[in-house]
Amino acid sequence: MINSAITKQIALYGHQAPSADNSQPWHFIWDGSLLSIKYDTPRVEGKTFPANSPATLLSLGAAIENIHLISNSYEIKCCHSVTFEDLSSTHAKAIIDFQSTPQLALPDLSNNHPIVNRHTNRFAYQSKILPKLAVNHLEKLTRGSARLLLIDDKASIHKAGKLVELASNIRFQTKEVHEWLGKSLRFTKDDVKKADGLDVRTLDLPPGGSIFLKFISSWNRMKVLNQIGTYRLLAKIDAAPIKAAPAILAVIAPATPQGAIDAGMLMCNAWTYLNNEDIAVHPYYVVADQLARLRENAVPEQLINSARDIEQQCQTTLDLKEGETLHMFLRAGYPKKVPLRSLRLPDDLVFTDTSGS
Ligand SMILES: Cc1cc2nc3c(=O)[nH]c(=O)nc-3n(C[C@H](O)[C@H](O)[C@H](O)COP(=O)(O)O)c2cc1C
Repeated sequence: MINSAITKQIALYGHQAPSADNSQPWHFIWDGSLLSIKYDTPRVEGKTFPANSPATLLSLGAAIENIHLISNSYEIKCCHSVTFEDLSSTHAKAIIDFQSTPQLALPDLSNNHPIVNRHTNRFAYQSKILPKLAVNHLEKLTRGSARLLLIDDKASIHKAGKLVELASNIRFQTKEVHEWLGKSLRFTKDDVKKADGLDVRTLDLPPGGSIFLKFISSWNRMKVLNQIGTYRLLAKIDAAPIKAAPAILAVIAPATPQGAIDAGMLMCNAWTYLNNEDIAVHPYYVVADQLARLRENAVPEQLINSARDIEQQCQTTLDLKEGETLHMFLRAGYPKKVPLRSLRLPDDLVFTDTSGS
């Protein structure tokens, strides 16, 4: 039987998973027999994507994938299932069932396991293309209903970059998303110490960029600036790195809650593999987000036609099958610069042991 101390270690590897704006929206609970992962409503509700959004399910899938990766490394047999609270809600809960104990002692998080080395790199990349070995590996990778599409020819990379620019145009005119970003930015050392959110030093900002970002993080100011078309300039800046990417990976799966979980697992596996091969990764969620918002009728009225246009272009550029959607773009390439790593919240905020052992 697996014990509480080992389960906590495994959960903390799950906690290394990526999440939107480093919101770390999950809570891990060990009851002595099963490990569950739930949306931490009291801590994150209203500050990031809701429990039922595809972005949250992507993060949940990534945490599940990390738990499988660490379990495989240490020869622990485990399986997972995801339940949804009721038929009208997609409030997901993952349950991990461990069927064996590790053969080897689990290392703490300070070791260089690929899970811990996975990270976001938002800086410029070299133009060098991805090696054939990596391409072959990625082309075969799937998780459940999710698949990867490797985009590595110049014309298709440009089309994908243009989609990011169009979606970013909408994003900078959408109050809710803009306010979440504002709440997650960490400008000072004390803010960074909170260990969640986005340390502005992890962003590729020009000199004075962080002051400008602070200024526009208020929606009222952004709204005024948008009257002179500032959103167009910001969208161009946002899309420039992906237009120049040596390669892009599109994570594609059905537009369903299970599809998002599978996509999160696949995204995390591919990302961990690439970082382990010294290839940098920068996720772009903005296109997938606009597609999800369109399905949920959450795109502002005056921007619906632009979102429909993005949907149609995605269909043809990514050759999506019936019912499929884009869940994430990953910009990939050899890095020029080693980025600062995002922190994770302390253990006691994300892990609870109710086993009484
Ligand atoms: C659902 C989701 C959406 C994300 N969207 C973006 C994005 O659009 N742009 C970006 O730079 N990073 C994005 N990220 C990356 C997170 O900001 C990053 O994973 C988090 O800050 C933790 O940092 P780490 O990946 O270095 O561990 C996203 C991650 C997830 C899981």
